[in-house]
Amino acid sequence: MAARDKRKADENNIMGKIVSLSKRRGFVFQSSEIYDGLNSCWDYGPIGVELKRNVKNAWWDYMISRRNDIVGIDCSILMSPKVWEASGHLKNFTDPLVDCKECKKRWRQDKLEDPTKCPDCGGELTEARQFNLMFKTFMGPVEDAGSVVYMRPETAQGIFVNFKNVQTSSRMKPPFGIGQIGKSFRNEITPGNFVFRTREFEQMEMEFFVPPAEDEKWYKYWIETRKQWYLQNGINPNHLRIREHEKSELAHYAKACSDVEFLYPWGWDELEGIANRTDFDLKTHQEHSGKDMTYFDEQTKEHYTPYVIEPAAGADRATLAFLLDAYDEETVAEGDTRVVLHFHPNIAPIKVAIFPLMKKDGLPEIAHKIEEDLREYWATFYDESGAIGRRYRRQDEIGTPFCITVDYDTKENNTVTLRYRDSMEQIRVNVDDLFETIRKEIKNYKPSFKN
Ligand code: GLY
Repeated sequence: MAARDKRKADENNIMGKIVSLSKRRGFVFQSSEIYDGLNSCWDYGPIGVELKRNVKNAWWDYMISRRNDIVGIDCSILMSPKVWEASGHLKNFTDPLVDCKECKKRWRQDKLEDPTKCPDCGGELTEARQFNLMFKTFMGPVEDAGSVVYMRPETAQGIFVNFKNVQTSSRMKPPFGIGQIGKSFRNEITPGNFVFRTREFEQMEMEFFVPPAEDEKWYKYWIETRKQWYLQNGINPNHLRIREHEKSELAHYAKACSDVEFLYPWGWDELEGIANRTDFDLKTHQEHSGKDMTYFDEQTKEHYTPYVIEPAAGADRATLAFLLDAYDEETVAEGDTRVVLHFHPNIAPIKVAIFPLMKKDGLPEIAHKIEEDLREYWATFYDESGAIGRRYRRQDEIGTPFCITVDYDTKENNTVTLRYRDSMEQIRVNVDDLFETIRKEIKNYKPSFKN
């Protein structure tokens, strides 16, 4: 049975394999590894950074570039502390922290199955204390109360405080959205599961401003639209579900929230949240700043405060989900298995690898020329070392969907071997047709799943 068929109980230790593949092939390294690392901090290596950039580009393309009702923004991480007072984060952005009286380990109470006992040693737990998740630092040389600033815990507030700037400069009318990708910081009590829950992470958020009477309609629309994005980029439909939050789980600003959940090796967990934030944020900023945050409707001649529907995704979580769903171990022939990542070509770190069959007789020159031509359009990789089979396997392991081999026939008839990662099928293609053939394959790619 393929490794990813058994993922539910993680019998095959898929997380362990992904972490080790990530280090071996340059997806993700532990931060500050030579100093024994820093808890929950990770660095994306040369292949991983391409993968994560492709995930973010796919989001930006789908959410902003290809729509005429959404624009982008890129706000600073440090903002006036008044923002966090107004948004309610200073008061309400907390998790309940409990300590084990025996082993002294710390836990997030709302994540424990039995909130009275330590899951590690069974010891008694302290009463819960509310712990604010915002990282604090000081601005300027004096470290006093007047110079405290916070690392933003969500990118959303940069969007809310710029609502009027964007709306007037871009002449947008509700319903319209403002999207942003950027780092956020939360001092999580229990980070873990590789890049799933980290204290420094990257968000892909969009605030969609709508007339108040249309909030339900757009809430449903964005739940469905965001689900489609994951499917379109290669997430297995059987590993995706929507879960509506209980009232008790809702953040202080939300009237309703639904998570797009993914079946991770440890079970169903959050990939993205779609929240109905109502007019909470614009109204509170209007009250605290004294600035008008309403929209003037030219037709009705009325001012109103738009409601906000917010699809908020994590770039690191999405990257992990794509990695998990792509991972497979396949038996190729008796006693011969391969590790392969079946990434959708849209997000594959390298799209095309080019190999000369031999390192002589002019084959490397032809291969280099093909690589140079294709590099204008896609991330490519040139490799001339080792047996051709080994070179294919090295590309399978990082999910390269297409490999091209230049051989002696290339010199005779200008054709090369085009090898497909998923089927391992090989066809001959004229060098002049390579770009168009690969372009069509990427456009028409349909992911297939075993479970
Ligand atoms: N802006 C929503 C979140 O950060 O979860």
